[in-house]
Formats: sequence, C-alpha cells, structure tokens
Amino acid sequence: MLANDFPDDLKPFLIPEVGGDMGYDCLACEARYAPDQLLYTCPACGGLLMLTDKKIDRLKEKPGSFWRRLFDHRLMLNHGALKGVFTFHEFLAPNIPLSDVIYLGEGHSPVVKAPSSLANQVGANFFVKMEGQNPSASFKDRGMAAAMSMLNHLVRIKNLDQVIAVCASTGDTSASAALYASSLGKSVKSVVLLPKGKVTPQQLSQPLGAGATVFELPGVFDDSMKVVERLSEKYHVALLNSKNPWRVLGQESYAYEVAQQFDYALLDKVLIVPVGNAGNITAILSGLLKFHKALVIDGLPKIVAVQSKRANPVFRYYRQPMGTRSYSPVVVKPSVAQAAMIGDPVSFPRLAVLSKLYEQEAGISSFYVVEVDETAIMEGMLQANSHGLTVCTQGGECVAGLKAALGEGLITPSETAILDSTAHALKFVDFQNAYFEGRLAQEYGVATKPELANKPRELELVDTPIPEPGQTMTGAQRETFVSTATRAIAEALSLSEKV
Ligand code: F0G
Repeated sequence: MLANDFPDDLKPFLIPEVGGDMGYDCLACEARYAPDQLLYTCPACGGLLMLTDKKIDRLKEKPGSFWRRLFDHRLMLNHGALKGVFTFHEFLAPNIPLSDVIYLGEGHSPVVKAPSSLANQVGANFFVKMEGQNPSASFKDRGMAAAMSMLNHLVRIKNLDQVIAVCASTGDTSASAALYASSLGKSVKSVVLLPKGKVTPQQLSQPLGAGATVFELPGVFDDSMKVVERLSEKYHVALLNSKNPWRVLGQESYAYEVAQQFDYALLDKVLIVPVGNAGNITAILSGLLKFHKALVIDGLPKIVAVQSKRANPVFRYYRQPMGTRSYSPVVVKPSVAQAAMIGDPVSFPRLAVLSKLYEQEAGISSFYVVEVDETAIMEGMLQANSHGLTVCTQGGECVAGLKAALGEGLITPSETAILDSTAHALKFVDFQNAYFEGRLAQEYGVATKPELANKPRELELVDTPIPEPGQTMTGAQRETFVSTATRAIAEALSLSEKV
C-alpha cells in the first residue's frame, strides 16, 4: 500500500525517525553507558548489561489505540526496513536509523492453531508460533537482525574496518550470525564456536554454507561460551551471543507480534517458552512489560518457561521459595532439546530482574517454570508433527511443558496457550529419525514407543523386472513394473478397484 493511501492521522508516523535515549544499564552497579559502542559487560564492575530507553515514557503520550493502529497499518507498508522486527522500531531500538537496518525476511512468523485432534490429546486448545519460518529457520534471526543492524550502524558511523563477530552456539545462533554477517559482505567476518557433536548436521551446515569460520570445540555449549567470553574480554571482537544486549531487543519482537496476532488481548493467554541461555524468555518478558506500560495490550499473559530435567538451572532457581532463592549452574546431561542444553545461562541475571518486575505488574501467579523429561519432549514433537505442525525438539519441549503445567494445575484448559516452536523441525530431524529407527542413543534416556514410529515400507515385487537403483526402465519392462507395483500397493492399502 502506498504511503499516501494510509489514514491521514497515521501518515506522519508511518516511517519512524531516530529517537529515544538508549543506553546500556549495568544490572550490578547501575552505571549507564552511551549506546554508540559495543559493550557486553560493565567496564566498571563486570556486571551484565541491559539496554533501556530513558525516554520510554514518551510512548505513553499516545494512547494504546494509536500504537495498535500504527503497527497494524505498518504491516501493509512496503518499506524493507520496517517489514521485519523493526515494525516495532519505537519500542525496540529507536536509535538505529532505518537506513542501517538489515532485513533478511525475519519476523512476523505465523501463529497456527493446533487441530482439535491434537488439542484433545494434549488436554487444551493451543496455538504454536512457528519460529522455524525465519530465514535461518529459528527465532534467533529476530535478535540477530537487531544486533547486526546496530553493528552495521557502528561500522558506518565509526568507519570500522573488518569486524570479527564471534559467538558460541548450540547451533542456531551460529546459523543466524553467519547468515546475517554474510549479507554484510566484507565489513563483518563471522566466527562461530560449536561444541563438537552437540549441534545437528543441518545446523552445522548453515554457518559453513554462509562462509563463516567454524571452530568445533570439545565439551558442551557452556565450555564454548566461556571461550567466547574470554575472547571478547581480551581481543577486539564483536560478541553476538545474547550477552550482546542488542540481541535481546530484537527478540522482544516475539512479544509484540504475539500481541498483534491476538488483537492485543493477552489477558487470558499463556505463553509457553523453552529456556536455554535465557535470552528469549528475558526478551519476551521485557517486550510484554513495555507494551503493557504503554497500554498497547489489555493485560499481561501468564508465562510458563520450560526446561529439560537434564539442563534445568532456571527451574531449580524458581522452585525455591521466594526470598530464599539462590542460583547455581548445573552440569548438563544429553538432551534431545539440544539447542537448550545449557547449564549456566548467560542471561540469568537479566531474567531474575525481569521476572521480579513481571510478577510485580502481573501478580505472583503470572510466571512459572516447569521441567519435563526427555520422553515427554520427544513425544511432544512427534505428536505435533503428525498433526499438521513442524516443530523442533524445543517446540516438543513446549508441548510437554503445556501438559506439565496443566497437570500441575498452573493453568486450566480454559486458558489459551501459545507455544514457541523456536526452530524448524528439519533442523532436528535426526532425533525423529533415530527414534523411528530404534537407534536413539541410550544416553538421552528416552523410552520409545513403537506405535509412534513411522518407517518407509518396502514392497515385495515378484515376477517383474526391477530398475537398478537410480535407473529407470522403458517399454514393456516398465509397464510390467508399474502394474505389479500398483497392485502390491493397492493390496497393502486394502483398496478396492473402481468399477
Ligand atoms: N530453542 C532453540 C531452537 C534454540 O536454538 C535455543 C537456544 C533455545 C530454544 C533456548 O533459547 O537460549 O534464548 O533461552 N539456542 C542458543 C544457540 C543458545 O546457540 O543457538 P534461549
């Protein structure tokens, strides 16, 4: 739609200008730093940083209805920089000029209602937000679009030469970082550190295909993460893990979109989110709080965070009585929700602050963490994917989390749950295949059910010529083959012939 065709009162606001007063806030010593530099920890005390907008109250000068109309109309605007997460520029990173925004097709992922056959099995109606439909097939593209746009901005205003952008990853941050860096050409070089054998072959192929430098390290993600942290302390590299607070801002768009996709009515909703490094859950809480303060939404939804029992430091923290909680990292065990297999989440200090603020605004029964076992995760994934969805193992973790929350009475079947399927099923398809073929390694502790397995069938073809593998046949030979194979399939399916 052309800018001229929008309602007159919205026209001046359709294309946002640079604004706000962004800065890095230290969570430990409360120091504040200017945004035109890359910081990950406080230069004064080493504390974790969050980006805040000191002029955020300006957003309250307009009624919530203004923002709702503006964001809904922006969806029809053909302006590249505003098509992705920057649809919500004013709430997200208003200091970044649109001319520096990188857009690769991220954001505005569809929300799909689970068919009733699946809802009946699970015990409640629910929706799934299909984050696997982002360009690198995971939600990480939201934060990466913001962090890379900011990096692009800094490269331009500071005239920086080749920036080395590093991250450690369980497979999806690396895929996303490499993709966005490759779109910037020579100005940003992507370097990714992966725990060897702990990312799927599909995830490994992504940074390789994008031309990144890939290091495979022994150990688990937590070990690679420590190396990246040390690299960013000692050398001039840009860090692209969610320790980079620009990533968190981009991921807030998940919350804004859920609001928009449910007509800004979130009061009776429950958001179910898998937690690994705790960047996503932090961003979702932060985004919801911003929209709530500006009266864009009618209220705050309930949040259910989900962890595997094999990587559950966040669950363990929140299950202690309030006031006595203490945080300790855990040593992870192999989990099929491998992308969230993290024992010492980098964003935990941010989550602790934001969950407290959230509970202050939404009430103490508004934020829960549940844990689920590996069998439940696999079954959640297989159930969803055999009912019209395409969820990853972390999406399966959400299905299992919904069942657990219903079982514990934390939510009721009358509430509407929205599950975050954080990546595409195909990235994690090897877990499905291993389950189906009965070769899922015992170390995952999954009890497999043969009735859930699906395998290709071979036909017994007798009295017919058979093509060599990869070859075809012609003439009478092919005709015999086609009619024999057709008959065999019809028999296997108990089909009766048309009369
Ligand atoms: N789901 C998927 C598919 C992920 O890739 C991750 C994290 C999570 C869930 C957990 O989200 O870390 O924000 O709490 N993957 C990171 C990575 C750590 O390196 O790709 P989180």
